[in-house]
Amino acid sequence: MVLKILKYGEPVLEQPADHVSDFNTPDLKKLVEDMFDTMYAAKGVGLAAPQIGISKRVTVIDISVGEDETKKLVLINPEIVTREGTQVGEEGCLSIPGFREPVTRAHKVTVKAHNEKGETIELSGEELLARAFQHEIDHLNGKLFINHLSALKRDIIRRKIKKMQKAGEWD
Ligand code: NI
Repeated sequence: MVLKILKYGEPVLEQPADHVSDFNTPDLKKLVEDMFDTMYAAKGVGLAAPQIGISKRVTVIDISVGEDETKKLVLINPEIVTREGTQVGEEGCLSIPGFREPVTRAHKVTVKAHNEKGETIELSGEELLARAFQHEIDHLNGKLFINHLSALKRDIIRRKIKKMQKAGEWD
């Protein structure tokens, strides 16, 4: 089921999400399915549960945007265990549509997480995948990509969004 993606300004997007301790449940299965449906409908490469209003540490990633089944990843309670190098690239977010800015990230990261069965998994990614891991894990910590920008750039974006909110163009 495709759900509504919440936009910047919704408090849940800036709150740390809760750890997941129940696995193999119908609720978790449904949440993950809905998150993939919602992410693909929006043509995104990643989505975190707080973006659909669920404050849980669940994220889905697919850098092939539905082209390659083997690229579908579900990370529950993910944590970055190692970071190497840096990369700078344009980044956007489904919760902040219309804005893209260069963000500095680690070039390669290794992530430890649970899968849907509650098993511990470890994944490594470089470039776009590493960026997606870092962006989505930030979401679970209540952090958005604009938090990585200069205060000046962030204020410009915030002001533009406020104008759109007033005009009813941001909901
Ligand atoms: Ni995002």
